[in-house]
Amino acid sequence: MVRHHLSEDPNWWRQAAIYQIYPRSFKDSDGDGLGDIRGITSEVGYLASLNLDAVWLSPFYPSALADGGYDVADYRNVDPRLGTLVDFDEMVAALHDAGIRVFVDIVPNHSSNLHVWFQEALASEPGSPARERYIFRDGRGDNGELPPSDWPSHFAPSAWTRTTNPDGTPGQWYLHLFAPEQPDFNWDNPEVQEDFLTTLRFWSDRGVDGFRVDVAHALKKDLGEPFRSKPVFIDFDNPLSGDDVLFDRNEVHDIYRKWHQVFEEYTPPRVAVAEAWVRAERRVLYARPDELGQAFNFDLLLADFDASAFKRIITDNIALAKTEGSSSTWVLSNHDRVRHTTKYGLPAGYDLREWLLSNGLKLDVDYKQGLARAQAATMMILALPGSCYLYQGEELGLFEVANIPFNQVQDPIWERNHHTDKGRDGCRVPLPWSSQGTSFGFSTGQAHLPQPSAFARLAVDAQSGRDGSTLELYRTALKLRRELQSTEDYEWIETGNPSVLHFSRANGWQSVTNFGSANAALPPGQILLSSGQHDSGVLPGNTTIWLKR
Ligand code: GLC
Repeated sequence: MVRHHLSEDPNWWRQAAIYQIYPRSFKDSDGDGLGDIRGITSEVGYLASLNLDAVWLSPFYPSALADGGYDVADYRNVDPRLGTLVDFDEMVAALHDAGIRVFVDIVPNHSSNLHVWFQEALASEPGSPARERYIFRDGRGDNGELPPSDWPSHFAPSAWTRTTNPDGTPGQWYLHLFAPEQPDFNWDNPEVQEDFLTTLRFWSDRGVDGFRVDVAHALKKDLGEPFRSKPVFIDFDNPLSGDDVLFDRNEVHDIYRKWHQVFEEYTPPRVAVAEAWVRAERRVLYARPDELGQAFNFDLLLADFDASAFKRIITDNIALAKTEGSSSTWVLSNHDRVRHTTKYGLPAGYDLREWLLSNGLKLDVDYKQGLARAQAATMMILALPGSCYLYQGEELGLFEVANIPFNQVQDPIWERNHHTDKGRDGCRVPLPWSSQGTSFGFSTGQAHLPQPSAFARLAVDAQSGRDGSTLELYRTALKLRRELQSTEDYEWIETGNPSVLHFSRANGWQSVTNFGSANAALPPGQILLSSGQHDSGVLPGNTTIWLKR
């Protein structure tokens, strides 16, 4: 393989293609059915063939897997089931040699309950410094039997869990916005702040190029008592004032300004992308040049396949990012959401949670339509200025696996919601590498989540080199995008057809998408790539075509 030299351009990430690896489901090298670091290293050639700028690894740290690894027991190590720090260094070196940069996931809002600090807190007295690293409080009621506030957890029901004292009597309560195994840190504590700076340096020193910041908007809370009530939970109507009790508080930006100073210690400076579930106007604040640099824009991931929705979201987000001096990001799928191939194959606005609960039986997915739309949407975002975050398996056209047997569901959402929400396993099923063999080449053993038989025809070896396959479309589109990208300008071109969106970039690169099902007229120009088959002069429904004028 040709050895690449990574540039020192401090803005390399502004228009990058970044591929999310969910390590436990990417590739297993040792037959235990769980993907690992060496598995990733063994597929660097595959990643390079996709023409990516970077990969982002979801957590690979030691974890009891109470939340798929987002319960981190040690921030500066590799889970022994996934490998060692030596394996990690080898992986980074191999990726860098292939011209691919590396993002790791930082989970600063909460640790695992198995983290030494939390174990120390449990063994320490109320009010002790060890407890001050987390959020411990006495309960309400005569005997402290009621939670300190009415705050709910994202994984339901209460955000407070009561501890048991060493002598067996009931003790204080601690806060966890997610599962009880994920106690929230106290970000007012300088020791917590310092420790995360150490973690950022630890990975940066090992060559990591950037960070994905989990639940970036929740670190600072109003912990003044009596606690303020927060009846409405996650939604995009969070107040814009920055003084909500739990989310998106103005002071959270002080943290990221400090992080940015650490990023600047390196060449090129490290960069980060915020996962912040807040309205677009507030989201861009996390991406400011003296903070993280980028924030995930989830608006398209939440939208239906609809021309006017896409146009509004694209226009607004590019303008907003520009106002704050950043570039926008585009995301259609990730490890928390129903895969977009499936979403677009169901009726618009359909309740995906209900569909998953029925094991996908209630309604047939129109996979063909879903895939055509998914490919069209992906080609559209790849032509836009800004960075695209792609999720492993979407380049194979993988669908959401809805029928994972109930007794094999891993997502904590399932148990905590008393079996009314099946959760996120359906997009975390291990990748199929070969159309035959044990776990479709993912592992020599049995995959940790069951793969459907239909994965055979979507396997890497079934699509590689095959004209018209989703994999080859991604490879070509990503290669062309790299050649065609220039300035961050773009311009809408009026089409006179409400179902068709057409825009141009510098150098005459154009992208036109038909969101409808009826054929539309294809604008003149040299055809560079099409997401589907088409006749001359015709832009079929659910299709994107790139043109050069
Ligand atoms: C983020 C992650 C999700 C995780 C949660 C708690 O939303 O993407 O997978 O469950 O944070 O860490």
